[in-house]
Amino acid sequence: MLANWLKESTTTVVFTGAGMSTESGLPDFRSAKTGLWHTKNPQQLASTYALKHNREEFVAFYQYRIRTLLECQPHIGHTILADWQKRGIIHQIVTQNVDGFHQQAGSTNVVELHGTLRTVYCLRCKQTYDVKRYVDEQFECTCGGFLRPSVVLFGESLPSFAIDQAWTAAQQADLWIVLGSSLQVSPANELPVIAKRSGAKLVIVNMEPTELDDWADLTIHNRKIGDVLQEIDHALR
Ligand code: APR
Repeated sequence: MLANWLKESTTTVVFTGAGMSTESGLPDFRSAKTGLWHTKNPQQLASTYALKHNREEFVAFYQYRIRTLLECQPHIGHTILADWQKRGIIHQIVTQNVDGFHQQAGSTNVVELHGTLRTVYCLRCKQTYDVKRYVDEQFECTCGGFLRPSVVLFGESLPSFAIDQAWTAAQQADLWIVLGSSLQVSPANELPVIAKRSGAKLVIVNMEPTELDDWADLTIHNRKIGDVLQEIDHALR
């Protein structure tokens, strides 16, 4: 069914969450046993509060996430999505992920709602550096300011250009496919509902049930995204 919808659709948007990257080796946040937030406290580690008042733990947490990220690669699912974009099967990717795997796999004009873990920037002069600086324990800008990852922390708002692009995509899509998100974090989790309300078909592919399953025209649970995408890709050949 989904292969047919992809063929019929003129504006397909793929909306990804951390479940898109677990098959690359990156843990997600809320999976029952392995989610990061089951062992770590996001408010204590990934928030504006942590950046200000808990800097040592903040830096250690992001060094851990950056080291893990640099050991991982996009998987076949990212490659299929990039190929589908080139073939005009999908038109846009909106992601909550900060790993940059969609771009590494060849996807273009990816909307990164929650920023990126691929760079850090200076709190004082906003100069941006490659994230390897953190791995090399260099936390200071040449101006002396503190360097922080270019991700959206809890307590911060999303980049306005990302909001504009994502909300426009949700209003224009005729097919909105969620891949690997529990859909528990706002405002990102408003997008599938906006798409649905604007007339799109909504598909949710997620190992576990999500908060928005009742809105979906099709849900695919208990299957790995990589397998689902390969099966559909085969049907589209
Ligand atoms: N195939 C299918 N689904 C998967 C797979 C997989 N291989 N691996 C994990 N999942 C599902 C899990 O069942 C889970 O419901 O992906 C979902 C990931 O949900 P979360 O861990 O909540 O991640 P996400 O929805 O992206 O979180 C949103 O929360 O902490 C913030 O900023 C962070 O962007 C993140 C936001």
